[in-house]
Amino acid sequence: MNAITRQLTGLRDWVDDRFPLMSLWNDHMGKYYAPKNFNFWYYFGVFSLVALVIQILTGIWLVMNYKPDAELAFASVEYIMRDVSWGWLIRYMHSTGASAFFIVVYLHMFRGMMYGSYKQPRELIWILGMLLYLCLMAEAFMGYLLPWGQMSYWGAQVIISLFGAIPVIGGTLTEWIRGDYVVSDITLNRFFSLHVIALPFAIAGLVLLHIIALHEVGSNNPDGVEIKKKKDANGVPLDGIPFHPYYSVKDFAGIVVFLMLFSAVMFFAPEMGGYFLEYNNFIPANPMQTPLHIAPVWYFTPYYSILRANTVNFFWIDAKLWGVIFMGLGVMAFFFLPWLDRSPVKSIRYRGGLYKTMLAIFVVAFLILGYLGVKPVSEGRTLVAQICTVIYFLFFLLMPIYTKLDKTKPVPDRVTM
Ligand code: HEM
Repeated sequence: MNAITRQLTGLRDWVDDRFPLMSLWNDHMGKYYAPKNFNFWYYFGVFSLVALVIQILTGIWLVMNYKPDAELAFASVEYIMRDVSWGWLIRYMHSTGASAFFIVVYLHMFRGMMYGSYKQPRELIWILGMLLYLCLMAEAFMGYLLPWGQMSYWGAQVIISLFGAIPVIGGTLTEWIRGDYVVSDITLNRFFSLHVIALPFAIAGLVLLHIIALHEVGSNNPDGVEIKKKKDANGVPLDGIPFHPYYSVKDFAGIVVFLMLFSAVMFFAPEMGGYFLEYNNFIPANPMQTPLHIAPVWYFTPYYSILRANTVNFFWIDAKLWGVIFMGLGVMAFFFLPWLDRSPVKSIRYRGGLYKTMLAIFVVAFLILGYLGVKPVSEGRTLVAQICTVIYFLFFLLMPIYTKLDKTKPVPDRVTM
């Protein structure tokens, strides 16, 4: 051992006598045994973490020059883009980062649905994940108001006014959210506060709980086999390998590829044809002029389509309120997956054709809804959106039935490679 190593080891031991450094490291890295058959789909959790770090770091630097004031906000973003050294890079990292975050989180959720990762004993990981998803949506929605462009303004106006459809309290509730009779400087200030302080704290805290819950029960895997059921004489799962160095190195390689793709978009197509940064948002907010076509950013559009697909007044409830109800149910439905899925197996590998078909149809319906949500309404599009909305909800409502009827294959005792 040379002098430097000796000193570093001494420092580590000094800290370890006062803080559970080594036991934390061993519990979560060095002696955390993860299934040895993780595949491509298992990258998206760590990519979500990377996206979170990118958003927090670039956010800190954006706030150094951004002005949360209706008179100054738009110009301050332009100032960041044109005059602040590397400001354009920081801003594009943050705007591309928002879309990248949702891409990886959607793929992360889809992985959970493919491999039944929400099933017992991982229900709480899933619920914490869903809470993260809700916070992420709120975070993105509030962040979008900050550049104070036309879409920022009118997008917020449309979405907040939806709460007005709620009987009795609707009017008061919308005023309470906006802090004013219209979206104004007051709204901008509170959204800024929530976007840069409250929600990032909530998200970081939830991520911590998400990982603690995951490490308590251990990861699922593409076979849906519980590796803790088969252990050697030392209590180490036979199909487990230490997270560090095996997966820390593998994840690092994945992160490099992710950052390459991320950079390609950020440098060559940061607006992504108007999907990541909408063209109308390059025009300063004008409360006197409504844009012809208002659409939220792509990651909200499946739910926006569900909202618009409700066109009939039914019972004593008008179409707008039905839209709000179904939009809310559309998001919340995912919370119930652990209890709706009655299949005896977890992974799609051992499920029958019924579940595979339902999942495939659901994904197609979700994508079509997403596409329709960015387009202006027409009679034909509304009809397609209505069909896709029905498919969307049938996927959840019928799940207890088709997962029970589905013909499953026998699950192996050990993971397959
Ligand atoms: C900020 C957002 C999120 C972050 C940073 C995050 C992070 C992670 C990480 C690092 C893992 C372990 C690696 C992996 O299995 O890929 C994981 C696992 C998991 N996450 Fe997330 N996650 C997020 C959001 C979500 C959401 C929205 C859901 C679902 C609603 C979710 C559900 C799960 C589940 C079920 C697992 C266990 C998967 C398994 O063992 O097969 N997560 N998450």
